[in-house]
Amino acid sequence: MYYSDLMAKWSPDSWKSKPAGQQPVYPDQGNLTATVEQLASLPPLVTSWEIERLRAQLADAAVGKRFLLQGGACAERFDQCNASIITNKIKILLQMSLVLTFGLKRQIIRVGRFAGQYAKPRSSDSEERNGVTLPSYRGEIVNGPEFTAEARTPNPRRMLIGYEHAALTLNFIRSLVDGGFADLHHPEYWDLDFVNHSPRAKEYQELVAHLSDSLRFMETLAGIQAGEISRVDFFTSHEALLLPYEQAVTRQVPRREGWYNLGTHLPWVGLRTAEVDGAHVDYFRGIRNPIGVKVGPSMTPEWLLDLLDILDPDIEPGRITLIHRMGYDKVAQRLPPLIEAVQRAGRLVLWCCDPMHGNTEKTASGRKTRKFDNILSELEQSFDIHAQLESYLGGVHFELSGDNVTECIGGARGLSEVDLDRAYESRVDPRLNYEQALEMAILIGRKVEKMNGNS
Ligand code: PEP
Ligand code: CO
Repeated sequence: MYYSDLMAKWSPDSWKSKPAGQQPVYPDQGNLTATVEQLASLPPLVTSWEIERLRAQLADAAVGKRFLLQGGACAERFDQCNASIITNKIKILLQMSLVLTFGLKRQIIRVGRFAGQYAKPRSSDSEERNGVTLPSYRGEIVNGPEFTAEARTPNPRRMLIGYEHAALTLNFIRSLVDGGFADLHHPEYWDLDFVNHSPRAKEYQELVAHLSDSLRFMETLAGIQAGEISRVDFFTSHEALLLPYEQAVTRQVPRREGWYNLGTHLPWVGLRTAEVDGAHVDYFRGIRNPIGVKVGPSMTPEWLLDLLDILDPDIEPGRITLIHRMGYDKVAQRLPPLIEAVQRAGRLVLWCCDPMHGNTEKTASGRKTRKFDNILSELEQSFDIHAQLESYLGGVHFELSGDNVTECIGGARGLSEVDLDRAYESRVDPRLNYEQALEMAILIGRKVEKMNGNS
């Protein structure tokens, strides 16, 4: 069948004819329908021209002219939609991007996992505690985390609350960036104390001394003052998991063809919902946004190529970002066949490494954590693997917080298992904290400089 025929049969709700994984069971279908209708009538969060601008930048990144930095919480929380947490998240992403600009000599595309990262896939539909079984917690946009029947029953009205919180978040981010917060010239914005705690202290201090050069460099490269970073320089992304929500924010816009998801710039397909014949892939094939696809160790080259045929039949520059998340102990084995398959198929994609999701482990006390060194190892191996195959790793994807949380182990301050109890706030996956994230950016910069033979 021709692509145009396929598209003629597509609509934002055509996913309903396919098996949809990871969806809540709403007891009140009338409420669901009414909520989706209400959501569909509200103004969008982002515009098609912002989306097209991002697509052009991602196309540049795919050929090595830019680099993608994507980061944020595993799952946003409504009770953390506040000024300080949002400000700190913007701050860490800005500072990481500056460090990366310096190390990589490329403009950085900043994409947050925010303003809509509210729905989570779960390994089981239900959770049992002391003989009581309730639906699993699926993120703020679906149900509440408390273990009561009331909280855990999926409530469609949460979609509206989610949309409002996404709008509040985005509104504040746009004002911050617009209002000069992005002026990184002020050294007091940088909390670099951790640098002195590292065995690599001397090396870090030299790098930090170069940060002011980096600022000047960025200004030259971007042709703007760091304080004048334009408002669209921050893009949003989330896993488009909850299909009734994504359907409601999918719109047609005047003078452009096709349908756009106007709830976020860069939606991605999660690992657990990437079946070729599934509802999520059907939804994604019909939207014009650039899209991310998570790629895990179980994905075969055939599966990946089938996905690309469906999601990007015309091989459009900037359309596909493949976010690989293999695990530090699997990446050397699993990644090369996928890169080679994509090359053989003559496809152009942006490759991005998520070194978080393949490196999750449980401590003896049952906490989910990740080790800084394993995260770094997957990243460094990924840079090398791409280089060896004459492919290009054009982005990184992190779960991080701009605050001093204690969820991942390691880094300059040597956080250990006993520290995790101090400030563990994530309800889902463990994030790098401010210092760990900044250090990671420094180490990526150093790695790429070494690869380029600059040190
Ligand atoms: C995530 O990014 O939070 C996530 C669930 O990732 P994945 O689909 O790669 O497991
Ligand atoms: Co996660």
